[in-house]
Amino acid sequence: MAKAAVKIKSKAKPAKKKKIVRARAGAAPQRPAKLQAARKEQVNRFKQTGTAQLSVDGAKPVEFPIYKAVEGASVIDISKLYATTGHFTFDPGFLSTASCDSEITYIDGDKGILRYRGYDIADLAAKSNFLETAYLLNYGDLPNKQQKSWFEYTINRHTMVHEQLQFLYRGFPRRAHPMAIMVGAVASLSAFYHDSLDIHDPAERELAMLRIIAKMPTLGAMCYKYSVGQPFMYPQNDLGFCENFLHMMFATPCEQYKVNPVIADAMEKIFILHADHEQNASTSTVRLSGSSGANPFACIGAGIASLWGPAHGGANEAVIQQLMEIGDVKNIPHFIKRVKDKNDNFRLMGFGHRVYKNYDPRAAVLRKACYDVLKELGQEDEPLLKIAMELEKIALNDDYFIQRKLYPNVDFYSGIICRALGIPTSLFTVLFAVARAAGWVAQWKEMIEDPTMKIGRPRQLFIGAAPRKFITLDKRK
Ligand code: CMC
Repeated sequence: MAKAAVKIKSKAKPAKKKKIVRARAGAAPQRPAKLQAARKEQVNRFKQTGTAQLSVDGAKPVEFPIYKAVEGASVIDISKLYATTGHFTFDPGFLSTASCDSEITYIDGDKGILRYRGYDIADLAAKSNFLETAYLLNYGDLPNKQQKSWFEYTINRHTMVHEQLQFLYRGFPRRAHPMAIMVGAVASLSAFYHDSLDIHDPAERELAMLRIIAKMPTLGAMCYKYSVGQPFMYPQNDLGFCENFLHMMFATPCEQYKVNPVIADAMEKIFILHADHEQNASTSTVRLSGSSGANPFACIGAGIASLWGPAHGGANEAVIQQLMEIGDVKNIPHFIKRVKDKNDNFRLMGFGHRVYKNYDPRAAVLRKACYDVLKELGQEDEPLLKIAMELEKIALNDDYFIQRKLYPNVDFYSGIICRALGIPTSLFTVLFAVARAAGWVAQWKEMIEDPTMKIGRPRQLFIGAAPRKFITLDKRK
């Protein structure tokens, strides 16, 4: 059998300039002369601190560089492994594999840390708002006053979607899951903005980013309006980003909708906390599909499809469905027993995380927001909250959960808040997608702006049939 021993020694294409076309003139804030570059250093950005030696089957060891992270685990660059040893690495589920380098988001799962561009998530949730956070993710720093008003103005002027999209929505069954519509509607933007989009032009990439962030709430709210048979509401550009989303969801042409500031604030927090999460399944999907040079709107559509799964963004919807299935505090022991049964695939939704093994810092913020919102709305006696809190208590004290480091994650609380806000369960993951689009597009841009970018192409360990002769139909058994 082959043996490999590893020893670790410690020690864009040029683009033509193009001006962003602004939708309105007049009192429009001027585009700041210099917006921060998203990527500080394009080449030689890795700091080599050592080498790792790999000896396959006793052959002469081959050396691989170790690159130091600003924070967190260093990486062993094995890109030349196949060329030098004829072997691939094998890591299904990416348990030990960094798929890219990035300057955007940092997570320390053991310490429960999440930072966007160096800023702590709890600070951003308490002191910033979603649009500022989206700017931070995409331009690399918080905006100054001029940059902030330019960004808000520009996003507001891109909130409308092509009128033709109404007909696309009308092609879906009324009972279609909103995420099914979102996958199609967002990807369909590629049909409206394909000819004019040269992804190698920085100005066009920026315009695509602005359009994606601006149009996601409009498309998300249209999913809801379509499902309840109400007219689509146009965006109202004098409202803030989250207020506008609530307006498009809950206003009707017959009645003004007055946005409750507590609800708008909770929505801002939910959006900030969900805006990015480094290389998770959906973000990796956006990067992988974008690596072929595909249209970014179509790539975001692919990300939405990945997000929909219950192990990822679909968990917020699954949490509520599960709490309803539990139905009463007295039934909790039965479900905890099911979790521990090796022959039962049952999992507690909203618990556990691949990276967070201490606590989910997003959950810590939303846990508090959850109580604030329920208090403000007079829903402290909400039976589902009682079940949720009891479940949380039992799980946090139960050996099964302690040993496996399973803590409530962000989706455990966001589901409860969204339900209290009157948002239908099937729409929860749409909200997640609206917020995450800011991160997806930042990650897509970062990848395209990397001059060393290659198409993503994983390899495999083939374990299928060995070569065999073709059998004609009359001789097959
Ligand atoms: N309930 C009960 N047991 C669990 C759970 C859970 N929610 N999650 C993991 N486990 C157990 C699992 O059975 C396994 O036990 P054992 O070692 O005895 O076989 C052990 O914990 C490790 O599980 P894993 O599947 O290897 O862990 P993972 O890192 O691959 O999975 C996860 C992470 C999030 C997919 C998983 O914890 C899960 O399915 N959670 C429920 C779904 C959920 O809430 N997802 C939202 C994640 S947060 C939002 C986001 O960022 O997408």
